[in-house]
Amino acid sequence: MSNSLGTVFRITSFGESHGECVGVVVDGCPAGVSIDPADIQTYLNRRRAAEQPGATPRKEPDAVRLLSGVHKGLTTGAPLCMLIENTNIQSEDYSDYERIPRPGHADYPARIRYGGFNDPRGGGRFSGRITAGFVMAGSIARAVLSHVGVQVYAHTVAIGSIEAPSCEPERVREFSRVDALGCIDPASAALMEGAIEEAKARGDSVGGVVECVVLGLPPGVGEPVFAGLEGEIARAVFSIPAVKGIEFGGGFALSRVRGSESNDPYVMDRGVVRTAKNDCGGILGGLSTGMPLVVRVGIKPTPSISIAQRTVDLDLGREVELSITGRHDTCIVPRAVVVVESMVACALCDLGVRSGLVPGVVA
Ligand SMILES: Cc1cc2nc3c(=O)[nH]c(=O)nc-3n(C[C@H](O)[C@H](O)[C@H](O)COP(=O)(O)O)c2cc1C
Repeated sequence: MSNSLGTVFRITSFGESHGECVGVVVDGCPAGVSIDPADIQTYLNRRRAAEQPGATPRKEPDAVRLLSGVHKGLTTGAPLCMLIENTNIQSEDYSDYERIPRPGHADYPARIRYGGFNDPRGGGRFSGRITAGFVMAGSIARAVLSHVGVQVYAHTVAIGSIEAPSCEPERVREFSRVDALGCIDPASAALMEGAIEEAKARGDSVGGVVECVVLGLPPGVGEPVFAGLEGEIARAVFSIPAVKGIEFGGGFALSRVRGSESNDPYVMDRGVVRTAKNDCGGILGGLSTGMPLVVRVGIKPTPSISIAQRTVDLDLGREVELSITGRHDTCIVPRAVVVVESMVACALCDLGVRSGLVPGVVA
């Protein structure tokens, strides 16, 4: 398994869905960064299943324990270890999936890869619950980035076929936390909630798209060619279970237009070089341009659904039908908004430290 991410600002994820705890160790964090556990908890609460439409009935306090690396409220330069305990477990719901793998989940390839020794309870290492560790790491990355004026925000832009109208990146800062769905546009949010409820009533699930914007990133951050901004962000974001697509700026749509439409003209704006539009999503050559970084993340529908599906009984070597019971999210997207922000922040923090944007000691 590969459980660490980053070159200098390096995070190591640990824990399983139904083990004692899930958590993260953050190494390579600059010293002198102010850390308030209440801020970490605020981010965790956005991920925690609570009022989000379609969230799993598995409710837990997800109270953060910050075990090391902070003294008198400031990072010391030593590793930070953070965890939350698993307090609400029903492992019996999962006892069949080692033998009868859930379509769309990791049960089958994990059994092959780890010879059946992987922890299957609640999906084990493949559960969305491990992303609580990502959020704790992200809260540290965000605290570091805020010292150099970089801020990361995300919002829900699509659920199923319902798409919110596009909005300026700067507006995401104002609105990204207004509702449990994380959608800026109230009219779209109402339709999205309806789509989630409809899927739930059918015993089905639905996916969607999260857009993340980074404001205040100066030009020149990134380590081309093999650790450019797109690659490092994609690597971090694809660590989030259920993420199946990513695009930057105009993304796939740019492949259908001419260069004269796709290129972002340079302009002088009050003495600063900017671009007149931002179809490159704030990245050229793997380096930041100084414009807002814009990344969209496609999240698939939750695999565990109660509608009967075809699968196989691996012990009997026979096709069977599976209707999944247990506690699952009808839609992962609302809970994933803060997870996307967190992984983008971790990737940027690592590149920020490597490029010298972030000093080793924050005064
Ligand atoms: C926050 C979050 C919550 C999730 N909740 C569920 C869930 O309740 N049920 C489920 O089957 N999958 C859930 N997933 C997705 C699975 O973990 C994921 O689809 C599975 O590990 C297979 O990986 P893949 O979809 O990336 O290929 C969740 C993912 C995240 C990020």
